[in-house]
Amino acid sequence: MSRVELKLGRQSYPIRIGAGEIRSLAAFVKARKYSKIFVISDERLSEARSVLLKALEATKLPVSELAVKAGESLKDFRKVYPIYESMLEARVDRDSVLIALGGGSVGDAAGFVASTYLRGIDWIGVPTTLLAQVDSSVGGKTGVNHRVGKNLIGAFHQPALVLCELDFLKTLSPREIVSGLGEVVKYGLTFDLKFLAYLETHLDRMLTLDPKPLQAAVERSLDWKCRSVARDERDRSGVREVLNFGHTFGHALESATRYRRYQHGEAVIWGMRFALALSEVRGHLTAAHRERGDAILRRLPVPPIPKKLERDFIFSFMKKDKKSSGGKIRFVLLDRLGHSVSDSGVKPADLERAYAMLQEKSNG
Ligand SMILES: NC(=O)c1ccc[n+]([C@@H]2O[C@H](COP(=O)([O-])OP(=O)(O)OC[C@H]3O[C@@H](n4cnc5c(N)ncnc54)[C@H](O)[C@@H]3O)[C@@H](O)[C@H]2O)c1
Ligand SMILES: [Zn+2]
Repeated sequence: MSRVELKLGRQSYPIRIGAGEIRSLAAFVKARKYSKIFVISDERLSEARSVLLKALEATKLPVSELAVKAGESLKDFRKVYPIYESMLEARVDRDSVLIALGGGSVGDAAGFVASTYLRGIDWIGVPTTLLAQVDSSVGGKTGVNHRVGKNLIGAFHQPALVLCELDFLKTLSPREIVSGLGEVVKYGLTFDLKFLAYLETHLDRMLTLDPKPLQAAVERSLDWKCRSVARDERDRSGVREVLNFGHTFGHALESATRYRRYQHGEAVIWGMRFALALSEVRGHLTAAHRERGDAILRRLPVPPIPKKLERDFIFSFMKKDKKSSGGKIRFVLLDRLGHSVSDSGVKPADLERAYAMLQEKSNG
């Protein structure tokens, strides 16, 4: 088991990571002297939900709960509104705590509810996907989507605790594991060459959820996420922007395929391969470094980019990205493995060249 602390002044909070860590939840809740517990869980996770409820018995507090259908469709005002109603019915008050059990969609929606219910109550994240454990559960970004775009309505609302129970990951599908590992590799590529080397050695064991390397992967990833968030809580100074490595092309690919073909992390794996190629095209990264970065990403199997999907159609979505201002897109690129640079000078010809390189690698 491991304990990490996200240091945000008065808003600092603990992050607990480990197999069996759920058993430490009751003591935390008791120490905070909450009045009631309201659990929002992904309806698919009946086993994890039972384990959680059992663990909460020791608090002897009243528990109400609501199971929701997880996924992007949950992040909609119309789906979130009935959650407020259930909480009002259960008389959840300002001293209550909300617990979110599920992947990033449940965390984002439940965290948003916690940020607005009675002008904000405490919440605890119990992320159950690898993606949510290494990324979305930490940092306090909560919110829902609008048909105009993703995450357009929301609030920064840091949780009181994040508890990553590694045993809950055992039911994930192989695609969900790959998707989470994509974000794990992102931390190695952008911040930490030593970690990247560790991932190169242990990636296959992580794909089978071998506990020891898995724990190391979650810990190290969250350590980097915490450092970025602590230095740039509200995503203003550009520090947190590094976490978007691979996301400009990744988001465009998700949009161009209407969020149906790829899991988020899968699209980001394509996005990182594109960003590596672009780093080389722009003269930041040597061909050898790019090849090494690309090689570890190729070990994570993702659906191919459909042949009939036009390059310029994908690119058109990049221009809509929120990081683009005045028609120019600011890309997070690498100047060596484990280190990033920001580049606002990318020209259309650079994008085309990078895309061609990506295709060469993928066909050969
Ligand atoms: N707040 C942030 O900083 C942040 C960062 C990155 C991503 N996100 C958001 O996270 C969401 C994606 O996260 P996600 O992929 O975890 O979403 P998700 O909640 O949709 O989970 C993905 C799928 O896995 C299933 N699932 C969850 N836990 C499981 C388990 N233990 N075993 C088996 N199946 C399980 C879910 O039912 C769902 O079908 C997106 O909405 C994205 O915008 C937020
Ligand atoms: Zn991501």
